[in-house]
Amino acid sequence: MNGQEFFFTVDGRQVRAEPGQTIIAACDAAGIYIPRLCHHPDLKPAGHCKLCSCYIDGRRASACTMPAAPGMVVISDNEELNNDRRVVLNMLFVEGNHICATCEKSGDCELQALAYRLDIPSPSLPYQWQRYEIDASHPDVFIDRNTCVLCSRCIRASRDLDGKSVFGFAGRGLGMRLNIDAKAELDETTFSAIDKAAKICPVGCIVIKRTGYRTPVGLRRFDVTPIGSDIENKSGAKPK
Ligand code: SF4
Ligand code: SF4
Ligand code: FES
Repeated sequence: MNGQEFFFTVDGRQVRAEPGQTIIAACDAAGIYIPRLCHHPDLKPAGHCKLCSCYIDGRRASACTMPAAPGMVVISDNEELNNDRRVVLNMLFVEGNHICATCEKSGDCELQALAYRLDIPSPSLPYQWQRYEIDASHPDVFIDRNTCVLCSRCIRASRDLDGKSVFGFAGRGLGMRLNIDAKAELDETTFSAIDKAAKICPVGCIVIKRTGYRTPVGLRRFDVTPIGSDIENKSGAKPK
């Protein structure tokens, strides 16, 4: 303890936190995985996807944006919360054209991996078969807006880590889509395949060309290590 650290409770476990640390960051350090999609540890929190929604002192709030506080009581894992997460995931699947069997991101995709973790074998809602624009203009990067889950990771990474602000959102509600720097196509921007934003998409929307099948299906990140298990294999949490 450094004098400022404190404890709070998550699903009956005592978790250590520092002032200003978010609930999700403290849980990650303690070996407790809370489902997430828009959260990335290198980015400022955005609170877009609501997958990390927990009961925090009896009220629903996002664990990725809420700072931990001494004595706080968090419930992150119960049937109600997980059912709500299944609803969100189901909607994301059918609002995009997510057909994993034909997607080069399969096995390395956080949306797919979360569906497996939460026991969703296939979407329970009808697909909407949207037709959003594909951008193959860039020599090294391909964009398929049909699979974008509007997490804003690329926007935050391009702006805050790459200093470029290549991406944004256009439209509102169900019509909201990824926009590129107010220009027509990606190759008109300064975007590069070595940008942080090129590798931060959780799904198959931003893909580096000519690399998709380098790792065979069955040996990819989440084929080998289910999502969340890297965090859960840490031993920082005190047992219930
Ligand atoms: S982006 Fe992910 S969820 Fe969507 S089709 Fe590809 S692998 Fe499946
Ligand atoms: S392109 Fe990828 S990173 Fe960007 S908002 Fe869509 S899903 Fe998120
Ligand atoms: S991970 Fe918290 S709202 Fe998306």
